[in-house]
Amino acid sequence: MNRIEDYIGVFDSGVGGISVLRHLRRLMPGERFIYYGDSANAPYGTRTKEEVKCLSLAVAEKLMARGLKALVVACNTATSAAIGDLRERYPDLIIVGIEPALKLAADRFPGGGIGVMATPMTLREEKFARLMHRYESECSIYKIPAPRLVEIVEHGLVDTRQNINMLQKLFDPYRGRLDALVLGCTHYPFSSHTIGKILGPQVEILDGGDGTARETRRRLEEAGLLSEGPGEVIIENSCPSPQILELSWRLLGQPREREK
Ligand code: DGL
Repeated sequence: MNRIEDYIGVFDSGVGGISVLRHLRRLMPGERFIYYGDSANAPYGTRTKEEVKCLSLAVAEKLMARGLKALVVACNTATSAAIGDLRERYPDLIIVGIEPALKLAADRFPGGGIGVMATPMTLREEKFARLMHRYESECSIYKIPAPRLVEIVEHGLVDTRQNINMLQKLFDPYRGRLDALVLGCTHYPFSSHTIGKILGPQVEILDGGDGTARETRRRLEEAGLLSEGPGEVIIENSCPSPQILELSWRLLGQPREREK
């Protein structure tokens, strides 16, 4: 029998955090994950900081009631708005939050041009300002807000002309200026194929999913909390439509296990 505190809770404003769950599953197949997408309240990135804080705390509370040994904030926007409050509220819990992989890009392309594509909230928050300040003397950093891409992914419309046109327009001003593009929102990796085709092979596309999964494993290992299995995934969503759960499993790339 599994102990109740065996789950790793993972959450996002919607289906985007599944891009992080994929890395977590790959690195820790023996773990039990409970994923919560707050699609009924998405997008977070165009809300106020206070709103995102309240929504994030409410989701965390729901997940905590299921019994967690760790919480992964698989949303850059929620990390910038609420990570401090979450740590304050649950001081004994392992909490890992994703943030734009700017360090990775700056290390790989010293002196280069780096685009950071994220939600308007992530890009205007203090947390990102501090991160940017650390690397702006080493490379040219361009902030690229892309709130519409969140909704395109939420509606499963990544491979549409509408998305291609939107992305072409978005990247037009940066042609020839980028060596790397950081996907600073967990929804965006689901469109990385389209983005790659528009930017061309000379621009490396990076995201923080793998780093977040590694950090989670490191923290669990350090605390002696890694599980050997059997692994499990539960997916829940605040939006009652069955399509959103279907989309979630499709994005995870594995057959459906359990859901609410
Ligand atoms: N996926 C989220 C992130 O990483 C936010 C998307 C949104 O709801 O605006 O920032």
